Amino acid sequence: MPHLLTLSDLSIETINDILNKAQEIQMQNLYREPQPVITANLFFEASTRTRFSFEAAEKRLGYHVLNFSAENSSTQKGESLYDTLRTLEEVGVQAAVIRHKQDKYYEDLRDRLSLSIINGGDGCGDHPTQALLDLMTIKQEFSRFDGLTIAIIGDLRHSRVARSDAEVLTRLGARVLLSGPKAWMNETLPGEYVDIDEAVKTADVVMMLRIQHERHNQGMNLSKEDYHKQYGLTLERERLMKPGSIIMHPAPVNRGVEIADELVEAKRSRIFKQINNGVAVRMSVLEWAVNKNEEAEQYEYVAFKR
Ligand code: CP
Repeated sequence: MPHLLTLSDLSIETINDILNKAQEIQMQNLYREPQPVITANLFFEASTRTRFSFEAAEKRLGYHVLNFSAENSSTQKGESLYDTLRTLEEVGVQAAVIRHKQDKYYEDLRDRLSLSIINGGDGCGDHPTQALLDLMTIKQEFSRFDGLTIAIIGDLRHSRVARSDAEVLTRLGARVLLSGPKAWMNETLPGEYVDIDEAVKTADVVMMLRIQHERHNQGMNLSKEDYHKQYGLTLERERLMKPGSIIMHPAPVNRGVEIADELVEAKRSRIFKQINNGVAVRMSVLEWAVNKNEEAEQYEYVAFKR
């Protein structure tokens, strides 16, 4: 099935196709007439950017969007995620965007459903559409990935963005530097661990991460001020950055913690550009999934069954 669960499932060729299509969609400022396609957004965890940019993307593609509210759904009566999605299939949903706090929530769903699952973030697992919009932002800036140095800094252990970005950027030929508190190192990520000043000085892209408090078992030992001084992008550290290098952050941002307030909208920051690129990338991903789904034999069977 044409699910988008992790970027490691996709070839470089498919990733480039999705990015090229996203660029074309953005250049055209595409808004379509209504199409006979129904999609659903199921967010079991808080979200602003992913949720609303998917909804904006679906509306701009002319799709009919069903917004699922976990609190008012039959999941409250014990219905499983599988039965929820089977129900959505029977009411005609072709693609479901899902955010869930459980890592790899999709594992026992992927081979049992004819609708496409688009992963909007799973626990500490992956965030593939965030990584795609990050790639689009980097490509617009540098026109390449090969030979670039990308520093990913902060709560590496609990960040799904760090995993998706480090994996795909390494595959695309970038050098990935990792930095942050020792306690939150993540040996499963590809990349070299370096001191934060070294990372900031060397990188073409300085990507800061929010502390994922919602995934921590115990609180942080440091005050916000001390964290900022030791591991944040302070005004002093920003002055170490190379000419032409940029700041990125998946957001939401905790201003004054992982990044100085003044740097969020600084000249070299691309944080709001990333959010803007998220709509075109998600339009491209939805088109890819829905078109592939319509081609799939299994989908034809389900459509016939209806
Ligand atoms: N970057 C990101 O996933 O933001 P949201 O949690 O607001 O969707």
